[in-house]
Amino acid sequence: MEPARLGSHLVVHLDRLKKNIDDLRTHYPENDILFMVKADGYGHGLTEIVKFAFNDLGILEFGVATLGEAISLRRHLSELTFQIYVFSDLQFLQPELAELYLEYRLIPVISHEDDLELLLKNSDYSNLPLCLKFNTGMNRLGLSIERSTEIIEKIKSAGRSEVFHLMSHFANASMPMETNKRNIWQRERFNELKNEFQKAEILLEKTSLGNSGALEQDFCKEETHIRPGLMLFGPSSMAPQHREKSWWKGRVLSELKTKVLNVFDVSKGDPLGYGSTPAPDSGTIAIIALGYGDGVSTRYMGATLYHKGVAGRICARVCMDMTFILFPKGTDIKRGEEFCVWDGDPEKFSELALETKTLPYELVIQLTARVPRIYQID
Ligand SMILES: Cc1ncc(COP(=O)(O)O)c(C=O)c1O
Repeated sequence: MEPARLGSHLVVHLDRLKKNIDDLRTHYPENDILFMVKADGYGHGLTEIVKFAFNDLGILEFGVATLGEAISLRRHLSELTFQIYVFSDLQFLQPELAELYLEYRLIPVISHEDDLELLLKNSDYSNLPLCLKFNTGMNRLGLSIERSTEIIEKIKSAGRSEVFHLMSHFANASMPMETNKRNIWQRERFNELKNEFQKAEILLEKTSLGNSGALEQDFCKEETHIRPGLMLFGPSSMAPQHREKSWWKGRVLSELKTKVLNVFDVSKGDPLGYGSTPAPDSGTIAIIALGYGDGVSTRYMGATLYHKGVAGRICARVCMDMTFILFPKGTDIKRGEEFCVWDGDPEKFSELALETKTLPYELVIQLTARVPRIYQID
């Protein structure tokens, strides 16, 4: 057995990524996918995810957050010809760093007028694609839509007659697209913005607006591109109370597996672990080999985990390398057995996110490098 599989590990089923992408393409046959893979491919491993998506699934465009992520990706897969967009931490104002966009063939997503001016002014950057992200109501990053006329003027004065990619981002995509006022407003503003560019005779080569929540509701088909992240890793990004609005039946790509290190019976009130926390009930305790050093944080305390269909509850303090789970007395669980913290069941995955008061986005991302990612194609 490969050493990584001996201990706790995250199995990443790449065949499920293929099925998820197939499903998304069925709903969006006309749109190209800009696959968002920031934060190490949402925790699944940037290089492996991109390599598979490019080589086996024909995805040509990827989005990361930082210049560092982009360079690392390009260096690891230098022989592959995909496009990389850098979305937030651009480091564009430092000339020696801005040059790295040319060297590594990266696309800066320009969200601030200072960066735009620099790009337009410097003739070295005339070969850089002009990719603009406007703030239509997210109020985080983004060129000011109130200044769209001046911005268009600047672009024209610099002799550019084409925008490579125009985009914006929703604040509330996990809420209903049809009725949420901000979602409606942001869509209207993006449409007005596109019209303004077109009236100014600036060609918009590509446009995109929708991330997972919007795409799960079948919106944003009128743009050339869609920008999914979370949904392609399986979970729905809709708020739990609005899940019925989503057509998405994603397969969770990952399974978090570990080992049972010890099993013993306790009576209610028996002291357990650090702080001698009293057992909340009588039952059978299983100690598993994952703790906050692996990313199973103290927020997991109280959450439900399952073994062979039997529900147990995390009790006592989560330690750095171990966690206590209380099962009903007599549960069939043995020392040395494999234990699955999550097994690809989307319902249980969402339940765990709710119980640990994290977002489904966080569960995999927060796993540390100590948990090896093992790639599998079934
Ligand atoms: C600009 C932008 N587009 C798309 C996405 C993908 O979002 P999601 O994971 O909700 O699909 C993100 C993610 O944070 C983003 O920042």
